Amino acid sequence: MAQQVRGVIARAKGEPVRIETITVPDPGPGEAVVKVQACGVCHTDLHYREGGINDDFPFLLGHEAAGVVESVGEGVTEVAPGDFVILNWRAVCGQCRACKRGRPQYCFATHNAKQKMTLADGTELAPALGIGAFAEKTLVAAGQCTKVDPAASPAAAGLLGCGVMAGLGAAINTGGVGRGDSVAVIGCGGVGNAAVVGARLAGAAKIIAVDIDDSKLETARGLGATDTVNSRSGDPVEAIRELTGGFGADVVIEAVGRPETYEQAFYARDLAGTVVLVGVPTPEMRIDLPLLDVFGRGGALKSSWYGDCLPSRDFPMLIDLYRQGRLDLDAFVTETIALDEVEKAFERMHHGDVLRSVVVF
Ligand SMILES: NC(=O)c1ccc[n+]([C@@H]2O[C@H](COP(=O)([O-])OP(=O)(O)OC[C@H]3O[C@@H](n4cnc5c(N)ncnc54)[C@H](O)[C@@H]3O)[C@@H](O)[C@H]2O)c1
Ligand SMILES: [Zn+2]
Ligand SMILES: [Zn+2]
Repeated sequence: MAQQVRGVIARAKGEPVRIETITVPDPGPGEAVVKVQACGVCHTDLHYREGGINDDFPFLLGHEAAGVVESVGEGVTEVAPGDFVILNWRAVCGQCRACKRGRPQYCFATHNAKQKMTLADGTELAPALGIGAFAEKTLVAAGQCTKVDPAASPAAAGLLGCGVMAGLGAAINTGGVGRGDSVAVIGCGGVGNAAVVGARLAGAAKIIAVDIDDSKLETARGLGATDTVNSRSGDPVEAIRELTGGFGADVVIEAVGRPETYEQAFYARDLAGTVVLVGVPTPEMRIDLPLLDVFGRGGALKSSWYGDCLPSRDFPMLIDLYRQGRLDLDAFVTETIALDEVEKAFERMHHGDVLRSVVVF
């Protein structure tokens, strides 16, 4: 039987979100209903609310979540009721050209639940990133559920579902940071600070954190940055070069999503180094770089979608590291809040006060 639960809905562009009763259908073939235990507030939820993603209002927000599978539909074998899972937005298809080439982390045909959750009047909802987890229960594709060690705290585990995975993966997967490398991270919010943590896990010898906010830099230092640069007080490219023997870092990770910070990343890396863009730009943004510099500096200019993660490979491994005390996911949970405090959390995010506010149920 379909169930009625509470969820956080964005009805129109820029309008404050509110809690409404939504209907969650029973899972159909290949689907699962998950009882959500925790869901982080990500910048992307705010982008949806502001109409920056698309116009498919009303949205059911929330997508960085962990919970317990309540029921599964026909043919579901990968998860079962009672499993503790992190929700992902990369349910790989196994059929597309990326999957067929053995690169499922780039899957070009990821899938979501086929049925729709609705408002009480039957209006279909668009769940954020195909998840919609600011709700007591949500309907997803079974492939969006990744089973992990149930001993992990849901608030911390859920963060691997988006921003923290994006940052960790930008360093470990996309950037290929290795033992002894020098790494600079520009923008140290939830994503950038996760890149700092990823660089440390991968054995980087020097990790330079760059931000315009001293409190973010302090957090970065606590998470493993060896040096910090406030780019309000001088040219960060010069500062990064000075800290790397005059040459620049082997890997520079841009976690802001702006042309000026991308240009900084481009020039702050050593010859043959790697730039990773994990920050998400907006459609009007442009960059203008001398093509000769693109050639002459060599190396790789990469973008990182969701940290190039493969949830089934990366989530259980990262939760194991967390359980062993080698990956401090709890450090990203600045505060836990109730479902009706998401709008307030957007304001705090705007002021840069938090790495993550996490709704716990
Ligand atoms: N690629 C992906 O798959 C993926 C996934 C999740 C989020 N993101 C993106 O990553 C970016 C960061 O997300 P977040 O949640 O960490 O956001 P956030 O707002 O928490 O962090 C952004 C940080 O950048 C800093 N900053 C702003 N302007 C700066 C500048 N000029 N120089 C240096 N630092 C500056 C801010 O002070 C802040 O600390 C966003 O663009 C977000 O959309 C990408
Ligand atoms: Zn695929
Ligand atoms: Zn997100």
